[in-house]
Amino acid sequence: MATTVHRDQSNPPPDADEQMGAYSEAATSGLYDKLTGLSGKYDNVRRYWEDELTRRWIRPHLSELIERKSAEMRRLRIMDLGCGSGDGYELLRGVRRTDAGLTRRETWLLGDGAMEHYKGVELNEDLLTQARFIHGGNPKLEFVQGNFCEGLPVEEGERPYDLYLTSYGTFSHHNDDETLIQLLADIAKHTEDHCIIVGDWLGRYSYEWQELWVADHSELRNMDYVISYIYDEKEREARRDELAHIYLRLMTPEEVMACAAEASKRAGADIKLRAFHDRSIFTGRHSDTCEYNPHAQPMRTLVNRLHEINYRTDLTDLKIDYVPKPGFDFINSFFNEISMAWNTLVETTEEMLANFDQDEARIIPEPHIPDSYPPALKEMLGRMAAVVNGVGWLDVGLPRENIIEPQLGYELRNLVSRMQRGIGCSHGLVGIFEVDKT
Ligand SMILES: C[S@@+](CC[C@H](N)C(=O)[O-])C[C@H]1O[C@@H](n2cnc3c(N)ncnc32)[C@H](O)[C@@H]1O
Repeated sequence: MATTVHRDQSNPPPDADEQMGAYSEAATSGLYDKLTGLSGKYDNVRRYWEDELTRRWIRPHLSELIERKSAEMRRLRIMDLGCGSGDGYELLRGVRRTDAGLTRRETWLLGDGAMEHYKGVELNEDLLTQARFIHGGNPKLEFVQGNFCEGLPVEEGERPYDLYLTSYGTFSHHNDDETLIQLLADIAKHTEDHCIIVGDWLGRYSYEWQELWVADHSELRNMDYVISYIYDEKEREARRDELAHIYLRLMTPEEVMACAAEASKRAGADIKLRAFHDRSIFTGRHSDTCEYNPHAQPMRTLVNRLHEINYRTDLTDLKIDYVPKPGFDFINSFFNEISMAWNTLVETTEEMLANFDQDEARIIPEPHIPDSYPPALKEMLGRMAAVVNGVGWLDVGLPRENIIEPQLGYELRNLVSRMQRGIGCSHGLVGIFEVDKT
């Protein structure tokens, strides 16, 4: 297990240039590109868990927006705040209208016809260059340099947007609540009739930074965040002194709601909550680094392996040994419950694999699933049993590595997403809001 090495949280915040340096470093290292599923910005967890769950949460709101606009003979205008290299556009384009079946292909919600304009706003020039390189051929996409901490980045007379998107902790760059309140108030004021705002923050009570949990939130509002996870452990330590730091706001839903209430007052328009969601509960980027919790386990690496083709994962390592923090009973009980459900799904799957009878081509005996288990766990166990029974007999194509383990990855994802409560106990806290002046 790696030792905990992190910057003293009471140090003065790094300045803006230093913080932008963190993204430049990541962008120019090449490790921020889509390389393999085992590491990098677009690892398997990002693609199969985080992007997919975010899409699932956005889907009903995006679908409703598209219907609303098309009833008015209009198309969608989207602003992506802190757009990076245009990742938000790719995220939205991947939202499915219908899932694929065995013969039917999936269909996409945001087809070419549904969108009028996408404006990506980004402070970092390297990422803007990358965004223009990737998407430069699409005339509906525009990438501009702007700072969302200085109010809504719009020109005089610019028409309002229907969807204001942020992703992957971007709103945590509002280190001071005042700039977040101002931006939300500007959006609400700029809205003519209706819009949806997707806010994305770092959750205050993620297990990966358990050392930073405080009961009095005013004691620690921003964390000193290192993008060290893009390197493996050896390189991470070798480069320790060169790593740039970002200062990011930790949020609970209550803290977000206080900002939204103040912004509503300032704008004279209600910024109404639709939903909060917790993303990456045990699989956040820093679960692997142990930078902020010596008890964290490398669950992201292990889940990445589950999804990797031709790769066998030792399921014994995949079990979570949650270490409670005294004084945080409510959060400890949430993590206890969810880690026990996770471990039961992994252990029972191990049992199914061990009990698979090749001659009978089925699991003998069938796993016992007590009725007292949480409904989500019962459902995921039933699905794993069906998959193991369905393919355990295959003697080509590595059924364990290429079918059963990736499916266990999906069922763990489904389990966690069903049991999450949107309470800030995760790497990413997603808040979806609406301004409706109609
Ligand atoms: C966590 S990254 C998310 C990038 C991208 N949206 C994604 O989903 O991968 C946050 C992004 O916000 C940008 N950013 C940070 N502070 C900003 C500010 N004040 N104004 C505009 N962009 C900012 C960063 O440069 C970075 O690209």
